[in-house]
Amino acid sequence: MNPLKHVAIIMDGNGRWGLKHYKSRNKGHRAGLKTIEKIIKISIKKKIKYLTLFAFSTENWKRPKSEIKYLFKLLETFLTNKINEFNKENIKLTVIGEKKFPRKINSLLKKSEKLTKNNNKLQINLALNYGSRKEIVNTIKSLNRKNIKINEKNINNHLYTSNMPDPDLLIRTGNTNRLSNFLLWQLSYSEIFFSRKFWPEFTETDYLKIINKFKIIKRNFGEIS
Ligand code: IPE
Ligand code: IPE
Ligand code: MG
Repeated sequence: MNPLKHVAIIMDGNGRWGLKHYKSRNKGHRAGLKTIEKIIKISIKKKIKYLTLFAFSTENWKRPKSEIKYLFKLLETFLTNKINEFNKENIKLTVIGEKKFPRKINSLLKKSEKLTKNNNKLQINLALNYGSRKEIVNTIKSLNRKNIKINEKNINNHLYTSNMPDPDLLIRTGNTNRLSNFLLWQLSYSEIFFSRKFWPEFTETDYLKIINKFKIIKRNFGEIS
C-alpha cells in the first residue's frame, strides 16, 4: 500500500455548478466551501499530513472584478469564522503564492499563519495568487541573488513547498484535464486523478474512492520492479 502524505487539489467547477443550479457563479463558489470542510475532515481521518488547495491562480485576476471581489470576501469570512476551529484541531495553515492582496486580507492571512504555526496534525497550504511558473522563476532569481548553485536540491529547498514532500496525489475536479499552472515542478511524480464532478458536488465518498485507488497503484519512479 502506498503511503499518502501529501494531497494536492485543483478545486475546479464552482462557477459551472453555480450557473447550473442557481444561475450564479458566485453561489457555486460559496457552495464549494462546504466541500473544503468535508475534505479536511477526511484528510485528518486518513492521517494525511499536507493538503494543498488551489484557491486562486495568478491567471484568475483576468476574471471580472465582481467575481474576484466576491471570492476574497468569501475567503475573509471563511477564515475569520474557521481559524480558531482549525487551531483547536491542530491544523496549520500556510499560504503559498504571492501575498499581494488588499491590506485586510493580507493581515488576516498572516494572522492565521501565525496563530497556527506550531500545529502539526494537518498542514493546509492554501494556494492563493499562486502560479507555478512564477514560483520557479522567483526561486531561480533568489538563488542567483544569494549566489547559490542551481541544482534540483537547491531549487526544491527554495520553493514555497520547501519543507514538505511532493504531492503523492493530485486531484482535479470539474471535468477538465489540465494543470493550469499548478505545482509544475512538484507534481513530477504525482499520481493524477481527474473527477468529472464539479467541486461543490464532490463528496467524501468520491475522495475516499480516489484514495483507495491511489493506495494500490504501482509507483515506479523510473525503476523497473
Ligand atoms: C474554481 O472554480 C475556483 C476558482 C478558480 C476560484 P471555477 O470558478 O474555475 O469554476 P468553473 O471552472 O468556471 O466552473
Ligand atoms: C484553476 O482553475 C485554478 C483554481 C482552481 C483556483 P481555472 O478554472 O482557473 O483553470 P482554467 O482557466 O480552466 O485552466
Ligand atoms: Mg475553472
